[in-house]
Amino acid sequence: MHTTPSKKVALITGASSGIGCETARMLAKRGFRVFGTARDPRKIAAIPGMHVLPLDVTDQSSVTNGVQSVLQDAGAVHALVNAAGYMVSGGLEETSIEEAQQQFDTNFFGLMRVIQAVLPTMRQQGYGRIVNISSVLGFLPAPYMGIYAATKHAVEGYTETLDHEVRQFGIRALLVEPGFTKTNLGKNSRNTSANLEAYAAQKNRVAEGVQRNIAQGDDAGIVAEAVYEALTAKAPSLRYPTGKGVTLSRLRRFVPSKMFDKSFRKQFHLDESL
Ligand SMILES: NC(=O)c1ccc[n+]([C@@H]2O[C@H](COP(=O)([O-])OP(=O)(O)OC[C@H]3O[C@@H](n4cnc5c(N)ncnc54)[C@H](OP(=O)(O)O)[C@@H]3O)[C@@H](O)[C@H]2O)c1
Repeated sequence: MHTTPSKKVALITGASSGIGCETARMLAKRGFRVFGTARDPRKIAAIPGMHVLPLDVTDQSSVTNGVQSVLQDAGAVHALVNAAGYMVSGGLEETSIEEAQQQFDTNFFGLMRVIQAVLPTMRQQGYGRIVNISSVLGFLPAPYMGIYAATKHAVEGYTETLDHEVRQFGIRALLVEPGFTKTNLGKNSRNTSANLEAYAAQKNRVAEGVQRNIAQGDDAGIVAEAVYEALTAKAPSLRYPTGKGVTLSRLRRFVPSKMFDKSFRKQFHLDESL
């Protein structure tokens, strides 16, 4: 039975771990009626007041059914947080088309499927907030995480455009851009099946740095706070960089490109003389 919702209803993908999990916890605590989703709902931590649902963002019928369940139960969906994602690690020459397609299927088309499933309801309501978890790698290059970065660059272009198309209906589409954050992203990353000897030394150096940066990264709560701000601000910003992302976003915009290139290569343990 549909009831008039007294609380804002939030649907979160990727709620079984990391950023999605912390966001679900924070939104539930701050008064949202939260529907937390992941492929296997048994992996989602019990959070008081949160409903859990199975939702695989790569499977259209799973997305349709998941959104239908929310609508049947709550009668509305005011907020969508797209946090589901993973990272494929490996050089671009080493990445097969199939590995790249799978990466896009989750990180980009997955998000698009869920957005298309909630938009008709949000338009009818005349209200909606969509927050897509992008990354600093949505505006920076990312050696040996190139296809992951390409999905995040795609999310950036898609979201900014969507925001212009749906604002007329009272809907906003917004980006949260975390820097390295302590989650299971590194542990859950998938390596390319091809490994070319020519890249091995540099790739291992970069990969060790990335795993270290994730382990020493920001708390996921910082990202959840930015999501909350994007969902509740009266006049939200299009982009919410978090943690070190704040400085990186400024550097990317204001530092001359040659200087940026040099410092970027140093940070990523690439030969600065090249
Ligand atoms: N950690 C960082 O440093 C960092 C930085 C910038 C951006 N991000 C972004 O933040 C988002 C969350 O990642 P995280 O760092 O929190 O990593 P995480 O701890 O590995 O969590 C990833 C989540 O995505 C879900 N997921 C993966 N494939 C899915 C699918 N096909 N359908 C539904 N859910 C799926 C996982 O759920 P199940 O496997 O249980 O289904 C899990 O809940 C990602 O988009 C990531 O790119 C992370």
